[in-house]
Amino acid sequence: MSTESVRHTTSSPWWRTAVIYQIYPRSFCDTNGDGIGDLPGIISKLDYLSRLGVDALWLSPVCCSPQADNGYDISDYLDIDPIFGTMEDMDRLILEAGRRGIRIVMDLVLNHSSDEHRWFLEAKKSRDNPYHDWYIWRDGTPDCPPRQAAASFGGGMWEWVPELGQYYYHQFSAKQPDLNWANPEVRHALYDMINRWTDRGIGGYRLDVADHLGKDPDRGFTVRGPRLHEYIREMSAACFQRNALVTVGEAWSADPEQALVYTSPDGSELSMVFGFDHMKLDQAPGGDKWSLAPLDFVALKRSFAHWQRTLYGRGWNSLFWENHDLPRIVSRFGNDGRYRAESAKLLAIALHGMCGTPFIYQGEELGMTDPDYALEDFRDIEARNMLRDHRAQGWSEERLLTALRARARDNGRTPMQWDATANAGFTDGEPWARLCPNYTEVNAASQLGQPDSVLECYRTLIRLRKEIPVLTDGDFELLLEKDTRIFAYLRRDGLSELLVLCNFSDETVTNPIGPELWPGDKSCRLLVSSYPEAAHPASGPEACLPQYLRPWEARMLLKQNQEPDRKK
Ligand code: GLC
Ligand code: CA
Repeated sequence: MSTESVRHTTSSPWWRTAVIYQIYPRSFCDTNGDGIGDLPGIISKLDYLSRLGVDALWLSPVCCSPQADNGYDISDYLDIDPIFGTMEDMDRLILEAGRRGIRIVMDLVLNHSSDEHRWFLEAKKSRDNPYHDWYIWRDGTPDCPPRQAAASFGGGMWEWVPELGQYYYHQFSAKQPDLNWANPEVRHALYDMINRWTDRGIGGYRLDVADHLGKDPDRGFTVRGPRLHEYIREMSAACFQRNALVTVGEAWSADPEQALVYTSPDGSELSMVFGFDHMKLDQAPGGDKWSLAPLDFVALKRSFAHWQRTLYGRGWNSLFWENHDLPRIVSRFGNDGRYRAESAKLLAIALHGMCGTPFIYQGEELGMTDPDYALEDFRDIEARNMLRDHRAQGWSEERLLTALRARARDNGRTPMQWDATANAGFTDGEPWARLCPNYTEVNAASQLGQPDSVLECYRTLIRLRKEIPVLTDGDFELLLEKDTRIFAYLRRDGLSELLVLCNFSDETVTNPIGPELWPGDKSCRLLVSSYPEAAHPASGPEACLPQYLRPWEARMLLKQNQEPDRKK
């Protein structure tokens, strides 16, 4: 092992105590009045982000794109799309963020390009074009595609090109042809591109659909293909093991055991992955994302515990509730009516108490909610295709609306709510997407500096992660596994113990944690809670472990051990 990799494994990399903030640039802040957020908009909010305390910003794609999938269809990996700004803006963002100790994490869409990318335009010119083999083609006849499989955004995965008498393969929309990763030229062109961004000062990468890179259509693999980890190791060696980069792979198919492979501490693959097990537990068994079911809360706790325990001391977790593909968590697992603020804070505390790197999606730190769109407001390619396909299957308008309101990606993509002025201060023009109407109450300006706001709760949690080592290093023990309302767990590192106690319900419940589970004493300190502490009926040690938990009450408690625990 080289000294370089030894250093990687023994000293703790920066991202283990980091909190990463995701920006969906199109919906963050518009500075030129075209209704679309842009890079200068992000620069204008760096002070806000720096005050919040985040260490890195993951930007959803800002490269040139026809925007068929809002930038996840890239037509030039090495330039900035004019709707977002220029390369100079990007350089300025990297510089200005760096001045505030914030790194920029780019989104790498490597599984597919846009059908308008020069590579694809060449590839479809002829079968012997040098770029032809950069994509995946199969012979066939117009009415008989190679192997019938449904693409992620509806329709089939094979698109007929009459001029060539061939089909090309696309796991997402037909405007997103899959790159042929089996071709080493493709891989090396992508590695080259990544290194150029690293040279420009990028601090890390989020890998779009990382688990799809090893696809093997003939053998029916979309995810977890036979060469997947070989490719990731090759890419990691060529690109990621330099400049203290953080890398996170999106991996819907990953279970904790797979995540261990991706995040092995020898640093040969990635820093962490996004696993989605906890995002599939309000889905009917065997159904897809549109088949709604009540959340299986006990399964949610079990899932977290499984990920926490499996990766502890071996791999590394990412922690998230939201991203640009998911609805707002307070509308999904919280109560976005009467207890909006309390439940948003509870969700924050429940997540940020665990082991891993927390991610915050823009607006989550304000407790932003789903917007209650009408059918015509849904504009995402996935939602439009779902409407078309499910209407054809006979779904009623009401059922369609219920499913889209619960699940469509548009829910998380409404413009950021900065203040109570027109268009929430997001734009002076006509916003590209309809705002969530509650922006007059739910916005950053009204929460800044308000101690009991959702925003200040997130700020506290980010600060605590830097101050309290057990948040980063402690193990994880789930308490009250079968309880259907309370999520409670312990984190221990031998020097201190942390207890997180959350009432995921609209009712006041008796606190089941007594001294036998957690002997709270005078050394016990309340670090953060979802209710204003001043209003709490008790003080002193009883306040740490109160008799009752109010609706959506969450508490994070710390106890320093008098004697270092020798078992550790
Ligand atoms: C990922 C992205 C999503 C995109 C898809 C195809 O899941 O997060 O937004 O549509 O990949 O690139
Ligand atoms: Ca703009």
